[in-house]
Amino acid sequence: MNSEGNGAIWTIVVAAGSGSRFGAAKQFLDLAGVSVLDRSVLTAARHSDGVVVVVPPSEFAGLSLGLESSELPDGFEWRVVTGGSTRSESVRNGLAAVPQIAEFVLVHDAARPLASDSIFERVIAAVSAGADAATPVVAVTDTIRFRSGDALDRDELVAVQTPQAFRAEILRRVHQQSPEATDDVSLVSDAGGRVELVSGEQRNLKLTTPYDLEVAAFHLSSSGES
Ligand code: CTP
Ligand code: MG
Repeated sequence: MNSEGNGAIWTIVVAAGSGSRFGAAKQFLDLAGVSVLDRSVLTAARHSDGVVVVVPPSEFAGLSLGLESSELPDGFEWRVVTGGSTRSESVRNGLAAVPQIAEFVLVHDAARPLASDSIFERVIAAVSAGADAATPVVAVTDTIRFRSGDALDRDELVAVQTPQAFRAEILRRVHQQSPEATDDVSLVSDAGGRVELVSGEQRNLKLTTPYDLEVAAFHLSSSGES
């Protein structure tokens, strides 16, 4: 049983991207002595009864994960599956490997290796308390505009992070028609589900370009974690 004392929680860590903007499959790079993927998976494992790791087909055979050498609670399970050509397809491949017994499913980007335990706790608490889905968000600091001209009201905007948490049957339902989106909570919103926004953290950055990896390394060294 997970530390949060809920029904079974499984986390899908999506790590099947190619990192085209980064110029490399960033999830397999080293970040202060531990791979980006291992950092994401090990944090997820602390809050889950099981983890599904979704990797590119080319990495599937030779994959070694930090989980293999970690002390995990009795009964903890993990599975590795191959991803698809889009993030949404990769989430669906992961979801197909989540056992039916799971009451809650979290989806986490491998590319966010600095997600804190508190963020996991906050999204899990929100769905345990009855929300259909929960996502961490942070305020937007830049002014955002459409290329065509109009600016948006910054106070109305938030930037969405992962891990996102879901009642399992709702996540399965919104993926039934194979929709495409850059996150999963927006699918629940579109379907009229009750989404709760919880506090994210600026430190929980998504590695998109090489600069982001430098920022992540800086965070770890400045907090004495490396
Ligand atoms: N992802 C995935 N399967 C895909 C595409 C993305 O599992 N077909 C995962 C990535 O590995 C990452 C997360 O989804 O952990 C967020 O995606 P993103 O940051 O966009 O990573 P990439 O798609 O790899 O990068 P890019 O868009 O620059 O190619
Ligand atoms: Mg992408």
